[in-house]
Amino acid sequence: MEIREPKYTHDFFNGVINGENVESYKKTYKDISFAYADVDKGLALDTEMYEVYFFNCGGENTLLWGLTILHPITVNEECNLTRGHFHLDRTEPELYFGLGGQGLLMYMDEDGNSFCEKVFKGSVHYIHGNYAHRLINTGDIDFKVGACWRDVAGHDYKAIENKPFPKRVYKINNETIFRD
Ligand SMILES: [Fe+2]
Repeated sequence: MEIREPKYTHDFFNGVINGENVESYKKTYKDISFAYADVDKGLALDTEMYEVYFFNCGGENTLLWGLTILHPITVNEECNLTRGHFHLDRTEPELYFGLGGQGLLMYMDEDGNSFCEKVFKGSVHYIHGNYAHRLINTGDIDFKVGACWRDVAGHDYKAIENKPFPKRVYKINNETIFRD
């Protein structure tokens, strides 16, 4: 019997995803400033806000495996966040799982109904396909969240631009505050 080395490794709590064809990118404040309520002139445009790692094995019906690391930065007291998206195919779900730090997973359906789940090391989140989803770092350290989804799900950012999440999350005097 041939025994092969795995194609990928994921150091869940202390590292990132490694292996062949692992893709990664970093978003700076300049890249993502549009997602926040206000411009923070005190925050350098080249500030690294979050980093993403993922791999796609290719082929049909492929699954993707990913990691997002949101740094503990606030923008005019608004907590660091991902842009958020629906899946283009609203029947395609996704799994998120907390790997470090703490934050919120904000959900929103097509009618604008919204709620959050707490995300922490060891939490697991099943995101039904009819919910948009966004991550928010409410803690003081890197917020690390893993994800698994099907390639065919796709990303629909336009729907969020047309109908934004109803609440924003701020950290004021170390308290998490929601605002319209
Ligand atoms: Fe997704």
